[in-house]
Amino acid sequence: MLKRKLQFVERICNLSVKEAWLTMHILHVVGARPNFMKAAPVYKALLQRDAFQTIVHTGQHYDALMSDVFFQELGIPTPDVNLQVGSDTHAQQTAAIISRFEPVLLERKPDWVLVYGDVNSTVAAAIVCAKLLIPIAHVEAGLRSFDRTMPEEVNRVIVDQISDMLFTPSEDGNVNLLNEGIAKDKIKLVGNVMIDTLVSLLPKAREQPLPDLPKRFALVTLHRPANVDDEIFLRDILQVLQDVGRDLNVLFPVHPRTRQRISALGIDTGKNNGLYFMEPLSYLQFLALQTRAEVVITDSGGIQEETTYLGIPCLTLRDNTERPITTEIGTNILLGRDATRLREELGKINSGIRKSSSLPPLWDGHASERIASILMG
Ligand code: UD1
Repeated sequence: MLKRKLQFVERICNLSVKEAWLTMHILHVVGARPNFMKAAPVYKALLQRDAFQTIVHTGQHYDALMSDVFFQELGIPTPDVNLQVGSDTHAQQTAAIISRFEPVLLERKPDWVLVYGDVNSTVAAAIVCAKLLIPIAHVEAGLRSFDRTMPEEVNRVIVDQISDMLFTPSEDGNVNLLNEGIAKDKIKLVGNVMIDTLVSLLPKAREQPLPDLPKRFALVTLHRPANVDDEIFLRDILQVLQDVGRDLNVLFPVHPRTRQRISALGIDTGKNNGLYFMEPLSYLQFLALQTRAEVVITDSGGIQEETTYLGIPCLTLRDNTERPITTEIGTNILLGRDATRLREELGKINSGIRKSSSLPPLWDGHASERIASILMG
């Protein structure tokens, strides 16, 4: 931390005018759990090219298990600035990020601001940059579920419209952006930065000690409001998982929002008859479980991609996906919000039936290097 502060002072005081001008200053904005895995490899690739970098954490996620542990495991420095916005309604949270980020940007004056994914922190930061005419690069641009009831879809559309550089993970992203009138020269197909992190940390994840793990298990994550705020759906899904737990153990690391909803249903998360509720896991722990799971059941975006890379079957409890490549060529099957289909598909997995799959182009562990080379020239 001190070293980076000194670097900052050096940059503005000691460098010759020419050197200071030549050192590119890139400011990363992160806020929620999935942002951290995307920013880490880009930060490292830019470091290789001697960029001067600042990390701003909005504080959207703040629990140690939702935030701090990721910085430690991913090997990126503690954020230079934490806006500490915390949880609130979408409007309040977005507004707090906007008003707290503006003075930081005015003081730091970066050459580029990098924003990641589709969370409220992404859109809030992008709006501030657009108003101050500071160039924005959106990493993971162009993804579309075409479902505007999803807050993330609204965030994606807005961020892409106001970004100056759009780094897409797959060809469908390019098509979506062109259809929305984005200029072709702003769109760069670079591949998937989440997969960069996965590739670099897979050996470490495989060494993770995982005591008392059942031999065969399903791994579950659920956190989308459309799923966990719907009492009937949540109850039905938990019932299926409970039933499945008799043949195939189910490990369920529980997001804070989901834990609140499960408690509200009066379900005891301490009891486990084959269905094990756990605290949120670190990146390495979760990756280690994914590599060993028979099947992953999720409503997350990134996990649809990680399972495709790993070749692990993925059952997605959503009506749509902004990552269609994972269903077209990957291991992902879109079930809809349908507990009966979940039961059927788990039955197939239990009898050894698997979908064949292949890897999307450019999901090769080098997407961040491509981003760094485009930004730094
Ligand atoms: C956010 C993102 C979602 C992403 C998810 C990953 C938006 C609109 N949504 O959803 O796209 O997939 O992060 O987790 O940005 N909470 C805690 N501790 C924390 C963070 C959250 O207890 O550190 C609880 C709070 O009760 C909070 C709730 O979780 O109200 C939801 O958090 P929030 O950041 O609003 O959205 P997520 O559901 O995590």
